[in-house]
Amino acid sequence: MTTAFSLRKRALLATALLTATLTLPGLAQAQAPMVIKFSHVVAEQTPKGQAALKFKEAAEKKLPGKVQVQIFPSSQLFGDAKELEALLLGDVHIIAPSLSKFDRYTKKIQLFDLPFLFDDLDAVDRFQSSAAGQGLLTAMTNRGLIGLAYWHNGMKQMSSSKDKLTRPEDVKGLKFRIQTSDVLEAQFRALGANPQKMAFAEVYQALQTGVVDGQENTWSNTYAQKFHEVQKTIAETNHGVLDYMVVANAKWWNGLAPDIKKGLTEAMAEATAHGNKLALDINLADRKKIAEANKAKIQALSKEDLATWRKAMEPVWKRFEGDIGRDLIDAALKSNNK
Ligand code: LMR
Repeated sequence: MTTAFSLRKRALLATALLTATLTLPGLAQAQAPMVIKFSHVVAEQTPKGQAALKFKEAAEKKLPGKVQVQIFPSSQLFGDAKELEALLLGDVHIIAPSLSKFDRYTKKIQLFDLPFLFDDLDAVDRFQSSAAGQGLLTAMTNRGLIGLAYWHNGMKQMSSSKDKLTRPEDVKGLKFRIQTSDVLEAQFRALGANPQKMAFAEVYQALQTGVVDGQENTWSNTYAQKFHEVQKTIAETNHGVLDYMVVANAKWWNGLAPDIKKGLTEAMAEATAHGNKLALDINLADRKKIAEANKAKIQALSKEDLATWRKAMEPVWKRFEGDIGRDLIDAALKSNNK
């Protein structure tokens, strides 16, 4: 027979059990993996998109039941104008902006935007792996950002809505979309063009409607965003690099339990190796697809043509040398020697 007393006892026991479940940290953790949000602005088939997916796969394999990585590609959560602030606010845990988007946080990273600094992606890789390059990963910790890795995309090409795009005089007076970088702004001013800082997600429409006449980007971004469908000419300038720094909110990263941090560090190394190995091939394949699509013409440039671009952009170096530091520029130049 159930008495009032035993009913009360049962209710008390149930309450006690529930409280224990909610307050025991071990139990609560075992049930809910830590959610790690990783946001980026490009498509999944690009080098960054592929590396991010690899990171998710490797992290969840190394830390089963402990972490769940959610990837938000193509500016789904927020675009490049907001993602750094969102990271600092803790709304997202990891992002991988292009190196051109950090100049509000450190002047040193402006190095990567100097025109014609690196001969090719191998040289960029050598610099990033060097002591000087690795040192830059922690250049923004006092601003709350910790660099976890460099990820490659590739070398930038110049594109415009005009038929002729061989020499600097062909871009005079034209409007160019640029990433939020003062060096890139100076680069287009040195060419006599009008640069406009603009979020990545807005570029296609700006090109299509003629808000801007041209832009600079890698083959993979050009193909994935269909820029080649709204541009007439893409000149093979290879005048700069578009690479990424994967950054985490430093407070969040430094507060991770040792086993989680170790697993995520290993997963990041795997993702970096994977994405960086794919980057050049993806860009070359996308160049081919752009050529086959027969929309924009790919303009090859002679050595003489290239020399005119290099010369026109030279003043940019002098202007930013003081902020970046001569040592860093020399270290980067050294990486051009195999
Ligand atoms: C751009 O804004 O053009 C690029 O930085 C986009 C990206 O993340 O590759």
